[in-house]
Amino acid sequence: MAPGRSRRSPSPERGSRPFLFTSGTRLSPAGPFVLCKTNSLAHGRHGSLRHCPNHGPETFPVIELRDISRTFQVGDQPVHALRAVDLDIPDGDYAAIMGPSGSGKSTLLHILGLLDRPDQGRYRLDGLETTSLGEEGRARLRRDRIGFVFQSFHLIPRLSAVENIELPLVLAGLEPGERRARVARILEAVGLADRAQHKPDQLSGGQRQRVAIARATVTEPRLILADEPTGNLDRASGHEVIETLEALNAQGLTLIVVTHDAELGARARRRIRMDDGAILSGPEP
Ligand SMILES: Nc1ncnc2c1ncn2[C@@H]1O[C@H](COP(=O)(O)OP(=O)(O)OP(=O)(O)O)[C@@H](O)[C@H]1O
Ligand SMILES: [Mg+2]
Repeated sequence: MAPGRSRRSPSPERGSRPFLFTSGTRLSPAGPFVLCKTNSLAHGRHGSLRHCPNHGPETFPVIELRDISRTFQVGDQPVHALRAVDLDIPDGDYAAIMGPSGSGKSTLLHILGLLDRPDQGRYRLDGLETTSLGEEGRARLRRDRIGFVFQSFHLIPRLSAVENIELPLVLAGLEPGERRARVARILEAVGLADRAQHKPDQLSGGQRQRVAIARATVTEPRLILADEPTGNLDRASGHEVIETLEALNAQGLTLIVVTHDAELGARARRRIRMDDGAILSGPEP
């Protein structure tokens, strides 16, 4: 098994395992989440499930943040975007990050997505310590395990829907037959098979975001990070987009969504509330 590969999706089977949306089984842990007291990471075992010698197989957090801080320097002025954040996200979770503008939600998501580095603290992704990794290692983890969905889609305008979705597979070096098969499956899954050749400006906002979700998930990541994915959409399109993301979560992907929308936040299994760079603790209001 490659280091850090989830035991549930070992690499030799990745190409052949049934793709997302093809089964309705929820793989997420049903009960309360428990950390194994015996840290098998110390023995080089990584993955979303691990065997605890005295407790049997248990889940452990796909994300573990400890004491994460991020400060931006603007002129002489330090801006404390994140202040000593601790966070555990169990495998298969569906969490909404909420809070006022400027509270640090996007900064947190960028750190989770390995798009930015903290100034202080530790970040373990799937049991792998990321803070000591170089750029190449971070890029590989990002490519293999994380799908990012942005408010403004970030599609390449001159490429068709199919070409946009295929791009990460080209970069990952997959051969053309496998690329085409995967792209066709996921286009069908996001309900856009009849829009395959459309360029982004020939699609509605909701359709563009579904292309972006397809692109983020065609590499079969275990973690989807979405920053205000419905922020540029009308209510109906926003619902379609969130339902597409929730279908991925129902397949076992961990889903973290930043949103200002209380109704969308209420759909998540839990809400993480931020203010002034910190995660608020205590019962939900
Ligand atoms: N690259 C940067 N340079 C300087 N300051 C930054 C940078 N990125 C973010 N900040 C500052 O860090 C703080 C947190 O920003 P962040 O974008 O994480 O907020 P947010 O909660 O996502 O807000 P919004 O809801 O408006 O998107 C803000 O005060 C912001 O001005
Ligand atoms: Mg933001």
